[in-house]
Amino acid sequence: MSAIRIAPSILSADFARLGEEVRAIEAAGADLVHFDVMDNHHVPNLTVGPLVCEAIRPHVKIGIDVHLMVEPVDALVPLFAKAGANLISFHPEASRHVDRTLQLIRDHGCKAGLVFNPATPLAWLDHVMDKLDLVLLMSVNPGYGGQAFIPSTLGKLRAARERIDAHMAATGREIWLEVDGGVKLDNVAEIVRAGADTLVAGSAVFGAPDNDGGYRTVMRQLRQAAGPSPAMPRL
Ligand code: DX5
Ligand code: ZN
Repeated sequence: MSAIRIAPSILSADFARLGEEVRAIEAAGADLVHFDVMDNHHVPNLTVGPLVCEAIRPHVKIGIDVHLMVEPVDALVPLFAKAGANLISFHPEASRHVDRTLQLIRDHGCKAGLVFNPATPLAWLDHVMDKLDLVLLMSVNPGYGGQAFIPSTLGKLRAARERIDAHMAATGREIWLEVDGGVKLDNVAEIVRAGADTLVAGSAVFGAPDNDGGYRTVMRQLRQAAGPSPAMPRL
């Protein structure tokens, strides 16, 4: 149990040593590996696919949180599920049939998430709360690591928190609220106060290695900076 979940994004890891890097973040107490998939079509960058997910799977026990920034979405869902993903999230603009894609992810045994770009309205949540395990708010425009946190995300986090709490009160079912982009030691407290329970951090973690190449110091600092919040299960 821990106060918040931290999901280091491998986008800022050393890809030539990826197995070692994910082992290091697990050893430092990471709750999830955040796995950014970009296709140079839905977003202007190109990263990694199911083969790399499968390659890192044996290196860690923690969940792999696959963030799909691809279009179309559906064909990749079974491939990532087979490659060992635990959570799969996608952008609603990238799928013709959002409800169907959410169901497809669950049918393949993964938790399903919907991702909101800074300009994407939360109205996409209106009719799919029962099919969601995760709401992921982008606090940068997707495509690159190392961008600055967009402050209006804080108000959006509060609005998403209200919707999620209302759903939990009505159904008893938990939905995670994750934030992705520009999460740093100096803004993590206000992000958690605004309602996030799961934090993606790429450059903040992989840009601050300990002398031995591990990430214990920065992970501890992130948790301390996040401040008190109710304990919650990992996955
Ligand atoms: C951006 C990605 C993020 C990114 C976060 O498109 O979805 O996960 O890696 O990186 P930082 O924490 O450096 O903003
Ligand atoms: Zn991401």
